[in-house]
Amino acid sequence: MTVVDGVTQQRGVLALGGVPLDQVMSALHRRDPDAAACWVYDLDLVAARARRFHAAFAPLGVRAAYALKANALPAILAVVRGAGLAAEAGSLGELHAAARAGFPAAERILNGNGRTPQEAAFAAREGVHSVNADHVDELDLLEEHAARVGATVRVALRVNPGITTPGHAYVATGNDQAKFGVAPAEALEAWSARARWPHLRVDGVHLHVGSQLLESGPLLAAAETARGLADESARRGAPLGLVNLGGGFGVNYSGGGAEFPLESHAARLADLIGALRVEWVMEPGRWVVAPAGVLLAQVLWVKRRRGTRDDTSRRFVVLAAGMNDLIRPALYHAPHRILPVRARPGDPEPATVVGPVCESADVFERDAMLPPLERGDLVALLDAGAYGSVMSSNYNGRGRLAEVTVRGGRPALARAAEDPAAADPRSSDDALDG
Ligand code: LLP
Repeated sequence: MTVVDGVTQQRGVLALGGVPLDQVMSALHRRDPDAAACWVYDLDLVAARARRFHAAFAPLGVRAAYALKANALPAILAVVRGAGLAAEAGSLGELHAAARAGFPAAERILNGNGRTPQEAAFAAREGVHSVNADHVDELDLLEEHAARVGATVRVALRVNPGITTPGHAYVATGNDQAKFGVAPAEALEAWSARARWPHLRVDGVHLHVGSQLLESGPLLAAAETARGLADESARRGAPLGLVNLGGGFGVNYSGGGAEFPLESHAARLADLIGALRVEWVMEPGRWVVAPAGVLLAQVLWVKRRRGTRDDTSRRFVVLAAGMNDLIRPALYHAPHRILPVRARPGDPEPATVVGPVCESADVFERDAMLPPLERGDLVALLDAGAYGSVMSSNYNGRGRLAEVTVRGGRPALARAAEDPAAADPRSSDDALDG
């Protein structure tokens, strides 16, 4: 029985990519007897989703650049590249990760609102498809580095179009409160003045209005803004050659309701802007990888606490994974469905599912309806393939978890866990004043 794309129930056991998740944990235990939680990714599903994204926008000639910030595990990057996607990097580290994964210069797009000299030097020296500049002063820094090595760097200006998006404020990026981009009028002035930067090709517009969008409305509004800006810039004698519409394609975390209408969105975009003769880029992250990953964790404890004022009791299920591993519920109140890997008989009852971190925000779900659970049982948190492991930390002295991939029905260790007993390799007492 299919629970959700990639996740199935086979004879009562939850499986990902056809591999029962209890077998994944047993296999990991043979390598690492202390492992009590790990990330698991279905690489076949990543490949299928990457290909589907690519195919949906191929009629528009879109270059789809996978946003590494969603999940930059090398095994995932290899699959995404194999499916024909380019790479979108938000930092020097991600540029290097893209290069190591084999994305050539023409398939590396650089983002970020805190451009550094090191990033500018990389773009000029190693090459990128384009840089999305967050403001006009940044062009001087890019020009300086491009001139130094005699290169030409293509630049799109990130425009903040003042479009509000539904969902959590922390993932809204195209409104007046958000820190990103320049005003449309500032972009038009910069395109008209682009001769000021002779080593830059400032002929692009970049719009990324938010993440986790389940409707195409805000993305179509952004595309309309891009079309209007391209028309106006051409009228002022500075035609644009590149339109980058960013990412934002959401996934359905709660299970009910609709998925993002990818193919119909592509068709509506084609009607809206298909006539514009420019190069198109998009930067999907979450959509490609979120449903292909789960966070698998053992139950450390089941605690029933009596009420202090009445005789009610509350069930707390303490997992071996915490907010340092998957911070999305604590940071955005994001829902991640929690399922037992092997359901015990018995009626579902409410449980507050928490991690072991010393913070009251370390809660994955309050009042989750779960069947009986006991110490050592495994549960899976679904849709954890994007913004999961990449946002994890060592808070509370916790080692980051192992990452396991499944492909063709076979599990592999793609990244080992950090050993919490290991000495801190970065600590020193080196004097800095002499
Ligand atoms: N392009 C730019 C410029 C971005 O800033 C982002 C994401 C993307 C593309 C990819 O967006 P996506 O297709 O994944 O929506 N940590 C948050 C999400 C933050 C998104 C940051 N920017 C979360 O866990 O929901």
